[in-house]
Amino acid sequence: MSELAWWQRGVIYQIYPRSFQDSNGDGIGDLAGITSRLSYLAELGVNAVWISPIYPSPMADFGYDVADYCNIDPMFGTLADFKQLVDRAHDLGLKVLLDFVPNHSSDRHPWFEESRASRDNPKRDWYLWRDPAPDGGPPNNWLSRMGGSAWEWDARTGQYYYHAFLREQPDLNWRNPQVRRAMDDVLRFWLDRGVDGFRVDVLWLLIKDAQFRDNPPNPAYEPGQPDHHLQVQRYTEDQPEVHEIVRSMRATLDAYGERVLIGEIYLPVPQLVRYYGANGDGADMPFNFQLLNATWHAGDIARMIADYDSALPEHAWPNWVLGNHDNPRVASRVGAAQARVAAVLLLTLRGTPTLYYGDELGMTDGVISPDQVQDPAELRQPGIGQGRDPERTPMQWDAALPNAGFTTGRSWLPVATETSVQTQDGDASSMLSLYRRLLELRRSNAALVQGSIEHVAAYGDVLTYERHYRNQRLWIALNMGAADAQVQSPAGIVLLSTLPGRDGQRLVNGMNRLAPAEALIASI
Ligand code: NOJ
Repeated sequence: MSELAWWQRGVIYQIYPRSFQDSNGDGIGDLAGITSRLSYLAELGVNAVWISPIYPSPMADFGYDVADYCNIDPMFGTLADFKQLVDRAHDLGLKVLLDFVPNHSSDRHPWFEESRASRDNPKRDWYLWRDPAPDGGPPNNWLSRMGGSAWEWDARTGQYYYHAFLREQPDLNWRNPQVRRAMDDVLRFWLDRGVDGFRVDVLWLLIKDAQFRDNPPNPAYEPGQPDHHLQVQRYTEDQPEVHEIVRSMRATLDAYGERVLIGEIYLPVPQLVRYYGANGDGADMPFNFQLLNATWHAGDIARMIADYDSALPEHAWPNWVLGNHDNPRVASRVGAAQARVAAVLLLTLRGTPTLYYGDELGMTDGVISPDQVQDPAELRQPGIGQGRDPERTPMQWDAALPNAGFTTGRSWLPVATETSVQTQDGDASSMLSLYRRLLELRRSNAALVQGSIEHVAAYGDVLTYERHYRNQRLWIALNMGAADAQVQSPAGIVLLSTLPGRDGQRLVNGMNRLAPAEALIASI
């Protein structure tokens, strides 16, 4: 499999650092905690960890408000701890990806403190400052993704600044070449420390309309959606000039050899795939989030796979994401039985899979009582399902220990204990065992990694497809329904099934039975 880059062969595992492993009893996860769990990840069989932000931050948005791009928040540790993490990961054959948050900084970042100090400060133009509208109100109608106007009044200098998220997260001005250079230095700071790549936060929002035109109303808005859905984000996202910035980030990474640039981009597929760059010189992988909102229906998923595959430019490497820290967990979206089907889907589709911590245990969304809410998205827009605490509850290591072994202190979010790594470890029928077997199967079957995807089809509740590489052919069948299903299959041998006792069985050429929520991989 050597002609592929490591990030094409591998599987990425996302760690939300506050919630993975606490090492010092303060109730919040940290770098030393992550380092102590890297051998678990190596044994699981993933190849890279992406760690959500660990930089100094007032934590208004839990690290997505960066106050210093080139350091570690004391809550998470030190640069020395980070070095230990990277060294240990590399010793174990794991790559390390950081979260790069270039769209906005914290309002406590020295750049913004200078920028807001006076209108003639040299850093004034590093952020987006505008005069009030003639009535004294905000300069235009742009809305924040965390609710309300995206413009914050600054009485001292008599102007508004723009923030796509919280007012504590002012947007940087990416039209300013000094900002670009400063951010390029940030990338190189971490690349020089051995980082293998980046997931870039809200890449599609970096550049805004130069004329600051009003966004038009969204005729498809439905009551109960977050405020910013009232408008079509015509002038605040996916501006043509963004692609030049992506190219320049990619060039910086390429100078370091085989590194990976991943973009967080929530856009429809035709717009998404443009982020690969016109000549394959954009993001290595614009995250493909389609599964996060998919209706769990074989026909819909079949269409999604085929449409994505046909939209990909020739040079582009696909990828699939099943969960992240901003969306309900897969086991809560589709239920425990179908979460096993989803695991098979994620690890047999063509392209790099990204797995969210805890999904390998089938962790469900935590129950957060009103007094436990931490997420600013919920605090600012309560009750409309924007809260992200449920999918951020701590990793469940050992159900027999207090806080499931996550912390010896008082956990920042409640810890569920209904299952854990320890409980599932020796159980051949557990979700953890299923993930381990799937990851092992990917390692030993080139067709799963570099094979083409063929014959994607749905028959009632059953989704089937094949992966072909040289003379290896695999047939994958997923029963996405709750009833027995008969499905036409080629003759073959079952390599893996979500049902116990089926491995090694023969499939006859003709109709074969799939149990409810059974997923299988067969060699044909
Ligand atoms: C996307 C991140 O994933 C999310 O958690 C954060 O709130 C916003 N970007 C703002 O940085």
